[in-house]
Amino acid sequence: MRIGVLTGGGDCPGLNAVIRGAVRKGTGAYGHEFVGFQDGWRGPLEKLTTPLGVAEVRGILARGGTIIGTSRTNPIKIDGGVERIKQNLAEMGVDALIAIGGEDTLGVAARLHERGAHVVGVPKTIDNDLNATDYTFGFDTSVNIAMEAIDRLHTTAASHHRALIVEVMGRHAGWIALHAGMAADAAAILIPEVPFSLEKVCQHVDSRFALGMAPIVVVAEGATPDGGENVLADKGLDAFGHVRLGGVADWLAGQIEDRTGHEARTVVLGHVQRGGSPTAFDRVLGTRFGLEAIDAVHDGDWGKMVALRGTDIVRVSLNAATDTLKTVPLERYAEAEVFFG
Ligand code: F6P
Repeated sequence: MRIGVLTGGGDCPGLNAVIRGAVRKGTGAYGHEFVGFQDGWRGPLEKLTTPLGVAEVRGILARGGTIIGTSRTNPIKIDGGVERIKQNLAEMGVDALIAIGGEDTLGVAARLHERGAHVVGVPKTIDNDLNATDYTFGFDTSVNIAMEAIDRLHTTAASHHRALIVEVMGRHAGWIALHAGMAADAAAILIPEVPFSLEKVCQHVDSRFALGMAPIVVVAEGATPDGGENVLADKGLDAFGHVRLGGVADWLAGQIEDRTGHEARTVVLGHVQRGGSPTAFDRVLGTRFGLEAIDAVHDGDWGKMVALRGTDIVRVSLNAATDTLKTVPLERYAEAEVFFG
C-alpha cells in the first residue's frame, strides 16, 4: 500500500514520534510505502508532497514540531475541497491517509471518510480537549513547560513582592492551566469552563501576600470574568472560524492592581508551550499512536481514530472523537480550588 501522512492545525511536541512509529512499523513489518503531505490539508489539496521513508524518520523522535509542516488550511471552506482531495489521492496512487490533528483536522478526516476515502486519524493537541481519548500527546510537554516557568516566576515574584499573572493556552478547555497551576502551586487558576469572580481572585491574591508569599495566578486564554466576554488579540478569524484569543492576563493584572493596591505583572507563555522537545510521556504516547494507526490502516479499519483508554491504545470512530470537546469537569476544578489563596 502507498500511505499518505499529514499533520494539521497547531504543531505539537510528539508529532514526529507518531510519524516515525507509523513509518517504521509500516515499512518494516508490512512493507508499505509512505509519502508525506506538506502543511496539513494544503498538501493533498495542492499535491504538495515530501519523501517519507525510514531515512527521513531517523533521529526525529526527540525533535519538536513536525518534519512535514502544518497549516490551518480548511478544505471544507474551499468549494469542492474535500472532493478534490479524494480525487488527488486517487490520481497520486495514495491508497490510505493517516491524518494527525485536533478536532478541526479530524473533522475534515471524518468528512473525507464519509465520501469513501481510506482515512485513519491520530489525536493531537496540547489543549488535551479531544473527546474519546484520555490524553493527547503534546499536553504533558506543555504542562511541564508551563510548570517550570511558574516555578521560576515564584522566586522573582517573591523577591519583588508583586503578583504575576501567567496566561497559558486553552481556548475552550482549561486543562493546561489546571495541571500547570496545580503542579506549581498557583494562588488561583482561571479556566474557560468556570467564569471567575474578580472579587474572589483579589481575595486569593491578598491572602497569598498575607502569608508572606507572592501570588501567581494562572489564567487560560479563554477564561472570562462572571458575565464578561473573551479578551481577543485581534478581530480576525482563522480558516476554521476561531477567534485569536489573548490579553486576558493583561486585563486581569490591571484589575488586580486597582483593587488590591499590589503591583501585578503579566507573563504570556504563548508558543513556548508548543515548542521544543517532547517529554518521555509524549514520545511514548506518540509512538504508540503511530504504531496503532498503521495497524488500523493495515487492517483496513477506516474512519477510526486511535485513542488512549487507561493504559491501552484503542480505536474509536472519528465521529465519536470530534462531536464534543472534552472540557474540565467541575469536580477536577474543585480539587484545585482547595489550594487557592
Ligand atoms: O490548538 C492548539 C493551540 O495551541 C490553542 O491552545 C491556541 O489557542 C491556538 O492553538 C493558537 O493557534 P495559533 O498558533 O495558530 O495562533
